[in-house]
Amino acid sequence: MTQHQRLLIIDFGSQVTQLIARRLRELNVYCEIHPFNRVDDAFLAAFAPKAIIFSGGPASVFADGAPMPPASAFTMGVPVLGICYGQQVMMHCLGGRVERGHGTAEFGRAFVTPTQQTHPILSGWFDTDTLHGREQVWMSHGDHVSEIAPGFQVYGTSPNAPFAITADPARHFYAVQFHPEVHHTPKGAKLYENFVRLAGFTGDWTMGAYRQDAIARIRAQVGDAKVICGLSGGVDSSVAAVLIHEAIGDQLTCVFVDHGLLRLGEAEQVVTMFRDHYNMPLIHADEADLFIGALEGVSDPEVKRKTIGRLFIDVFQKHATAVGGAKFLAQGTLYPDVIESVSFSGGPSVTIKSHHNVGGLPEKMGLKLVEPLRELFKDEVRALGRELGLPDSFIGRHPFPGPGLAIRCPGEITREKLEILRRADAVFIDQIRKHGLYDDIWQAFVALLPVKTVGVMGDGRTYDYACALRAVTSVDGMTADYYPFTHEFLGETATRIINEVQGINRVTYDITSKPPGTIEWE
Ligand code: XMP
Repeated sequence: MTQHQRLLIIDFGSQVTQLIARRLRELNVYCEIHPFNRVDDAFLAAFAPKAIIFSGGPASVFADGAPMPPASAFTMGVPVLGICYGQQVMMHCLGGRVERGHGTAEFGRAFVTPTQQTHPILSGWFDTDTLHGREQVWMSHGDHVSEIAPGFQVYGTSPNAPFAITADPARHFYAVQFHPEVHHTPKGAKLYENFVRLAGFTGDWTMGAYRQDAIARIRAQVGDAKVICGLSGGVDSSVAAVLIHEAIGDQLTCVFVDHGLLRLGEAEQVVTMFRDHYNMPLIHADEADLFIGALEGVSDPEVKRKTIGRLFIDVFQKHATAVGGAKFLAQGTLYPDVIESVSFSGGPSVTIKSHHNVGGLPEKMGLKLVEPLRELFKDEVRALGRELGLPDSFIGRHPFPGPGLAIRCPGEITREKLEILRRADAVFIDQIRKHGLYDDIWQAFVALLPVKTVGVMGDGRTYDYACALRAVTSVDGMTADYYPFTHEFLGETATRIINEVQGINRVTYDITSKPPGTIEWE
């Protein structure tokens, strides 16, 4: 477990629990999210948090088996902050009262006004010069607190939540009905800042400190054993590889599986950077013939994905075995992959796409895992990458899917189509960079459509492929919106692609959001 001061977030199933963690990490506070049903007294004692936050959640304290925190959360002498359901559960446990609806449900924007009393938890909050001292907050609750627990006082009220901001100053218990972690509570971050300051956090979670800790932990875990790492050229595996290399040097060998489905110049860039710049032992497994051969005649997206995933594991295993005697496999697993989410509905969700991963490989090969990024969010991985000296141009790269260009070429894949796609994609990205838009866009690429259309160029007839440009904004890839390019940009890009890429005579722009679309075409 980390040596840093720790804050525990007990997750009661809110849609926005991860945002609480983001706000805290921004304050250089180390925190972990654990579902309520995994947190008991023994867990709390072992975790030894310096403060606890109860998240919101969809349940009602009246429901049978309503989620509850362990009793020791209130007796271990650390500050506690309850948010929404977290406030209700706190009042319920400590002798207050919660009531159902009766027209007091609140969803969306609300305004909180201060009471006569004040407390440092609200330092910098109510600005008396504007809005007559009101402050906007975001509410989302059906039940509400109708009586606060003994010891609590009220510091802020809203029309439908008389106990919008409450605290028991003696015990350092704080409870709010709204969601300070969301964007629509503009001063929300300030509330978290005040809470962690009152709890005595010194802000010791910095990337420099993390780097030193992580290196020491990797050395302790690995000893003098060999480690292999699958390098994809993406940010996560690259940062993991550089960090591990800094810790154990040439005990690390990276395997870069080149499936022939990469973008223009990508394999050379990855190999040059890691082999020549970082001087890492790197196996460049050029297996384009194998992958493209296996995909011949395959047009079903799921069959493509599964074929690529299976071959990827075979190839990786072959090269990893050749390294000889490796005991560990390094992976760039991130914190959002580790957080166990609270499922109230139960049951598996529908598989939209079979994602490409190397699951199952460690057991099959008898390898243990080294996952030095398990505690980090994506933007923290980027910050660590910068700390480790990876160039900004590399760290800020758009995500690229494991199955690569295969899923950007709907229908059957041929080498000719891949070549056309690569060149069109390079022009599109060049346009985006030239117009200074790259960092505003989550992901941009070209999809080559399985359809030929008629055109006229230089008085002659053409019969070539149509392509679609795709560019989206997103924060996590789960939802996305198309990027609002200007007509001038789109026109200029279409002209460049048709002039510069032989084989394409028509360009379209995909304006589908996600949902209902997905980002990739397959
Ligand atoms: P979709 O197309 O599902 O994509 O909206 C969401 C994000 O995930 C990426 N993606 C993948 N990444 N392996 C990956 O590593 C995959 O199999 C895969 N499929 C989609 C996609 O590029 C987007 O960023």
